[in-house]
Amino acid sequence: MAAPANASEPDVAEPSPQRRSSRRSFLRNSLRATAAGAVGLGLYSWQIEPHWVEIIPQTMPLVGLPAALAGRRIVQVSDLHVGEAVDNDYLRATLRAIADLKPDYLALTGDFMTANRFEHLDRVMTTLAEAPIAEVPTFACLGNHDFGKRFRDREIADRLTDRLDSAGVRVLRNASVEIDGLQWAGSGDLWAGECDVWNALDTIDTSRGAILLAHNPDIADVRGYRDFRGWILSGHTHGGQVRFPLLGSPVVPVKNRRYKRGHVRLDASRDLYVNRGLGHSLQVRLLARPEVTVYTLAQA
Ligand SMILES: [Fe+2]
Repeated sequence: MAAPANASEPDVAEPSPQRRSSRRSFLRNSLRATAAGAVGLGLYSWQIEPHWVEIIPQTMPLVGLPAALAGRRIVQVSDLHVGEAVDNDYLRATLRAIADLKPDYLALTGDFMTANRFEHLDRVMTTLAEAPIAEVPTFACLGNHDFGKRFRDREIADRLTDRLDSAGVRVLRNASVEIDGLQWAGSGDLWAGECDVWNALDTIDTSRGAILLAHNPDIADVRGYRDFRGWILSGHTHGGQVRFPLLGSPVVPVKNRRYKRGHVRLDASRDLYVNRGLGHSLQVRLLARPEVTVYTLAQA
């Protein structure tokens, strides 16, 4: 006579050795695929995306733009970070290719270098020499990294300004200039304690549109704009540099989280554009490719 079954034991058959082995190999393959994906993503964000430049077209309507300037192009590059962290051959090749975009004006929006003091000034100039700065009117503002390691050393910024000026780059530090009927202004850097938008725009004719170069997009929120109408061109954020799907970028160095990247309509008279930059402090980019922006001027 058979022994009575124990009611507390579940009546589940043991998986066969074949099923156990196929479950183990499924788990092993899943782990391998996950590890391979993580390595692939790591390699991509380290070796590919930081040097994979995207050219972004953007229309720039300006009130009172002279008819002759409609259709002209401004090419913006930002955040070169010349120094130890960024491959100089990559920067030089990218700047060399700017001539193919047929710019009428160049806008450089700061963080030319990552430096302790003056050690990379020569390299900034030889790198920039690849861009058509001698042939095309070129305007610039400075970024926080152009003031040395602690972002506050004006002696470094002054030396860089002199070198840029002597190469034909018009550096605008709380100043403005007009060329061909187009008004350019530049703000001093916010983190360097030099930002003075009131003075930068002091001589701007506000009946016409203007372009303000301002490295840090938070400058859009400081006082001093009065009746300014036009575009603010910024950099600084590197587009967040690393962006996770659904989660976004964990680190964006701005107070106003609207100013991570791209075009932002600020109000009825002002537009902001945040360029993602070419360089980096740490060589990693994910879903935030380096960028060159090509603006086409239009009458508003
Ligand atoms: Fe930067």
